[in-house]
Amino acid sequence: MNENTRQKNLAEATASVWDAFVIVVGMLKGGTGKTTSAWFIALYYAVVLGLPTLLLDADASSQSAYDWFKVAQAEGFEIPANLVIERYPFDDLAEYIRTKRAEFGAIVVDAGGGSARLFHEAVTEANLLLVPVAPTKIERRKLVATFEEAERAAARNERGVTAHVVLVKADDRTSLPRTAKDKLLDPPGGEGIGPDRNEPFPLADTVIHSWVHYMEAFGEIPTELSEYAELVKELTAA
Ligand SMILES: Nc1ncnc2c1ncn2[C@@H]1O[C@H](COP(=O)(O)OP(=O)(O)O)[C@@H](O)[C@H]1O
Ligand SMILES: [Mg+2]
Repeated sequence: MNENTRQKNLAEATASVWDAFVIVVGMLKGGTGKTTSAWFIALYYAVVLGLPTLLLDADASSQSAYDWFKVAQAEGFEIPANLVIERYPFDDLAEYIRTKRAEFGAIVVDAGGGSARLFHEAVTEANLLLVPVAPTKIERRKLVATFEEAERAAARNERGVTAHVVLVKADDRTSLPRTAKDKLLDPPGGEGIGPDRNEPFPLADTVIHSWVHYMEAFGEIPTELSEYAELVKELTAA
């Protein structure tokens, strides 16, 4: 065996140690907190769990997860060495995720809100789908369309994917979070999931509140992961 072959074999051996846990953050609407959620979750996997983590920005319309990285880099924030951030808003996203599974312990995909096609692709490879939704009527309406697409994609997912809705930007000084929770767990006809669109959404117990800490996190590497640490623990508990 020559030196080149030996090195290649070693590289292949180390590269294939992993089979990444793939978390897709998606919702077919802009501004719902996808990019913020994707960043905090990726930091949890990289920094708290210490796993080689890939944060994939698959948002075709805006590139904010990647922008976040660029700004953080420019401002001198130290990017965790085991966190890789890439932009991949392309139609063969599922295939790309598949090829990256062996290199990372966790892959977090910011699926964006503008492309049902990219969202669909990502969900076909997801282990976990996280749908962040703010407690407003308009967001709840978009949720139905998001789950319809997710159900079609899940049917093509060979590993089985679990989906969770997480309430974000919740301001407990208003009645909105309470109302949203009630509507998600006991949806009026046509506004739920399942064949008759009347079944409850799989709502996470952990709530992400409307905090300045999250607003100001863009372009930084926050060390306080706050409610997102609780969220990941909740959703990955056996
Ligand atoms: N939990 C939160 N509390 C307050 N503001 C938030 C929260 N999450 C996100 N935001 C803000 O809402 C806006 C949209 O969030 P972003 O993560 O970019 O959404 P998306 O990627 O879905 O478009 C940003 O200005 C962001 O700072
Ligand atoms: Mg975004």
